[in-house]
Order: sequence, then C-alpha cells, then structure tokens
Amino acid sequence: MTMASPLLHPYEGPHLTLPNRIAMAPMTRGRADDVTAVPHPLTRHYYAQRAAAGLIVTEGIWPDPRGKAGPGIPGLVTDEQVAGWREVTGDVHAVGGTIFAQLWHVGRMSHPLAQPGGATPLAPSAVRIESEQIFTHEGDLDHVTPRAMTIAEIEETVAAFAAAARNAVRAGFDGVEIHGANGYLFQQFLAENTNLRTDRFGGSLDGRLRFTLDVVDAVVAAIGAGRVGLRISPDNPENEIAERDPRGTYRALVDALDPLGLAYLHVIERGAYGALADLRPRWSGTLIGNFNGPEATAQRAGEEVIAAGLADVFSFGRLFISNPDLPARFATGAPLAPYIPDLVYGGEAEGYVDYPALTAARP
Ligand SMILES: Cc1cc2nc3c(=O)[nH]c(=O)nc-3n(C[C@H](O)[C@H](O)[C@H](O)COP(=O)(O)O)c2cc1C
Repeated sequence: MTMASPLLHPYEGPHLTLPNRIAMAPMTRGRADDVTAVPHPLTRHYYAQRAAAGLIVTEGIWPDPRGKAGPGIPGLVTDEQVAGWREVTGDVHAVGGTIFAQLWHVGRMSHPLAQPGGATPLAPSAVRIESEQIFTHEGDLDHVTPRAMTIAEIEETVAAFAAAARNAVRAGFDGVEIHGANGYLFQQFLAENTNLRTDRFGGSLDGRLRFTLDVVDAVVAAIGAGRVGLRISPDNPENEIAERDPRGTYRALVDALDPLGLAYLHVIERGAYGALADLRPRWSGTLIGNFNGPEATAQRAGEEVIAAGLADVFSFGRLFISNPDLPARFATGAPLAPYIPDLVYGGEAEGYVDYPALTAARP
C-alpha cells in the first residue's frame, strides 16, 4: 500500500473541494460527430469511468466554430451540443465527480477545411506554421498563412468565450478551463514570434497579455470567478511558439490574474523556465501542475510536486486513457495498463471505454 501518497490526500481550496489531488488532464479524443460537433454517445461513459479523479478537465471544446482544430472536435455553441454535454455532466455527477469543460480556440492551428465556409484561419498575426503539417479530412496538409484578426473579430471571440462559458453552466459543468497553453490562440497572442500586432492587442507586454485578460474578465463576468480556470504552458515551444521572456510574460500575467480569485491556474511545466517554482509564490489560489514530456508522467513525479508544495493538485493525461481508475491504482500500487496509441484519436468504443477498471480486470 502506498496510501501515504500525497496525491491521495483530500484538497480543500477556496472554490474546489476534492477527494484527492489527482486531476484528469484535458485530452482530445476526436470522437465527436463531425457534422453536429455533439459529443459521441459514449463520451458520457468515458468520463464517468474516470470520475474518481478529484477533478476532470474535458478534452478541448470549441467556443466558436472558427476555433475548431479539425475532425471530431466537439463544440459548446448549439443547443444540441449543450444537450450532449448535459448527459456527460449528469453521469459524472451521479458518481460523485467534478468536471470542468476546456474551452479551446486553436487560432492558426486550423485549416480552411475545418473552418466555416472554408475561410482562412484567424490568428493574432499572419504568421504561418512552417515545420509541421496539420491533420484534416483530406489527410496531413501544409498549414496555410492565417489572417490577422480585426479588432472586431477579437471582440467577437472574447464574447464567444463568455457565451460558451454560459453554455457550459447550462450543460451542468462545474466550471470551465480556458486553454491558454500549447501554442493555440492565447499563446499566439502571448508570444513575441506570433504576435506582431501594433494595436492594443500587441506591441508591448501589456498588449500581448490583453487578449487573455479580456477573455478571463468576460468569462468571469459571465459565470463567476469561482468557476473559471486557466491553463498555461510557459516556455512551451510546441506549435512553433518562441517566447523571448517567459518569466517576464507569465509573472505579469499571473500578477494580473491573481486578484480575480479564479477557481485555479493549471500550469504545464516544460522547457528551461521552472514555471511551477517561479509562479507558485505569486499565485494565492489553487494551482494544478502538469508535466508534458515524451513519456506519460509517472505517479512519483506528481507526488514530488505536491510534496514540495509546488502545486495543490497534479494532472495526469496519458495514464488516464488506459487506467480509468487511476487513483485506485495509485493507492494500491497496482500495475498500470498501457494505452494503444493507434486508438487515441477518433473511432468508437475500442481504445476509449473498453479499458477495464481493476475490479473488472480481476477474475
Ligand atoms: C491524446 C492527447 C490529447 C491531448 N489533448 C489536449 C487538449 O485537448 N487540451 C490540452 O490542454 N492538452 C491536451 N493534451 C495535453 C495533456 O493535457 C497533458 O498536458 C499531457 O498529456 C502531459 O501529461 P501526461 O504526461 O500525464 O500525459 C493532450 C495530450 C494527449 C496525450
């Protein structure tokens, strides 16, 4: 028994009361209906199976059709989508879980094939991804050069986040997580190499922070600070982000956000900047840590973060794909099942809801 694991201690924060410090990290699974963007009928079971996590953060969900990455990504805009998510939250709550919806706008990480009317994807500036391709209905294709958003389009996007947050509450979610990480729209505004604007949404540190702060303000006004989390990934080079001064950028961001009293800050630590150690003393609310390396983060790594006081809760992604009862496995030291990489994105039940829990796995 490893009951001494600090991950298994209950957590009582200003807005969150959780039975343990294990969060399920947001993970795109690409199974939503591609016409309606309603979650797959099995999604309710997938999350309910994993509801022993102290907190579930859903896969990224688009708050605006222009924020969609590609095939199989769900939305939170139409009544039909809200109804689909209400079934998911109902099942998770029925077994005692807590679930936040991750709101995800990909900005330049989209393609005309995923955009309404085949439009050019929107971004802070017309800076194209050069080194990678993007998965579309027609296979992997080169990225297109995005179009720089007008001020009106930025304001529409801010409003879309607020509307999607209201829809999340209507759908029964306990809150929303704004996806400010991993090189998507928010980090495109935050990073110097993707934000070349000279208006009030760029041109200076304050300018680069403005979009994120405006969205957080709008979402807080819509559903209340206690239901709003933000995910960031300082210094993460994914998706061709190059932050010249992550320390300066994220210290300023966190200092501006701390007085709002948000539900939590979710920090993906990656790169040379030790984000958790640097930002922890500046954040008075709940902090969720995450590591994003080439291999699935191990139990021990999360325990060390909690034991060192660098975060209150730690999120695990890949281990949750194939271990629906991850907290029980951590508690008992039971073996961890490996996930099948080919079954991560898209498809049906296989590789989604057919990984057994321990009790089911035992004869
Ligand atoms: C299949 C897959 C899908 C992911 N989708 C998202 C996503 O939609 N939103 C997000 O913020 N992070 C996403 N991530 C990143 C995870 O939330 C997490 O940061 C990463 O997997 C590292 O944690 P781990 O080592 O415990 O897996 C995804 C990761 C994986 C493996």
